[in-house]
Amino acid sequence: MAGNTDPSPPLRINPAAFDAFTADYDVAFTHSNLGQMLRQRVWRVLAACFQAGQTVLELACGTGEDAVWLAQRGIAVVATDGSAEMVQATAVKAQQADVASLITPLQLSLQDVGQFGKLRHSYDGAFSNFGGLNTLDDWRPLAAALAQQIRPGGYLILVPMGPVCPWEIGWHFVHGEWGTAVRRLRQPAAARIGADLIPVWYPSARRLRRDFAPWFDCLRVESLGLWLPPSYLAHWVDRRPRLFATLNRLESKTARWSGGWGDHVVMVFKHATR
Ligand SMILES: C[S@@+](CC[C@H](N)C(=O)[O-])C[C@H]1O[C@@H](n2cnc3c(N)ncnc32)[C@H](O)[C@@H]1O
Repeated sequence: MAGNTDPSPPLRINPAAFDAFTADYDVAFTHSNLGQMLRQRVWRVLAACFQAGQTVLELACGTGEDAVWLAQRGIAVVATDGSAEMVQATAVKAQQADVASLITPLQLSLQDVGQFGKLRHSYDGAFSNFGGLNTLDDWRPLAAALAQQIRPGGYLILVPMGPVCPWEIGWHFVHGEWGTAVRRLRQPAAARIGADLIPVWYPSARRLRRDFAPWFDCLRVESLGLWLPPSYLAHWVDRRPRLFATLNRLESKTARWSGGWGDHVVMVFKHATR
């Protein structure tokens, strides 16, 4: 998600703002060394939770990179996003990868959880990768809606941006950008996406654990982007591949013990049978 901020913007939740992001998203992030390192870590989690023959719901699917990866492993995906352009990019990517029969791209905003009932019931699981959830300020309605959609015992993997990103604080502090260094502590912060300023919230792992607790048990929390920098510094990683490959290995080993700090946080939930 974009790193630019404005201290006093008129904020409006607007998933369509991400239309402007679509064309550059894969070049700027997905195909960068950093994007690939981070995504492979999430893929390891998805591979442990989902199996061929299952159907999963994806929220805020972006350009469909994860949906295609799952479909190539025989997992059907209903891939939703609030941005029409992102949904279209997912459809195109699914065609190009020859897995369109396993991917159902659908425009759906996270604010419209009431619409979830119109989707297929009893998914084997659901997930949302890289920050789509940060355009919500209340996750309980989403948790309640997902509890209706995911079968008991099904997994839910969430990868929101967290409130404490030491790299971001350090980077902007060193550059004298004090406001940006601590922007995640303002709720909501403002992110410029194309021509729009949208509100962004940074829930702690504890907050999400609590909001999902009536329906989901939290099994695991891992840092993603603790030793590795935020996505807007992907060009840095491209210039120092060996250093960041080492930091990636270090991060993989320590992620379970860093208390949910990092640019993103990977949370694994299981739909409780209580
Ligand atoms: C940083 S991208 C992540 C995309 C994708 N999950 C990935 O792993 O590359 C964030 C995505 O969230 C979507 N998004 C943001 N706010 C949303 C909302 N309120 N409802 C649905 N989608 C939203 C955007 O359109 C964008 O595709």
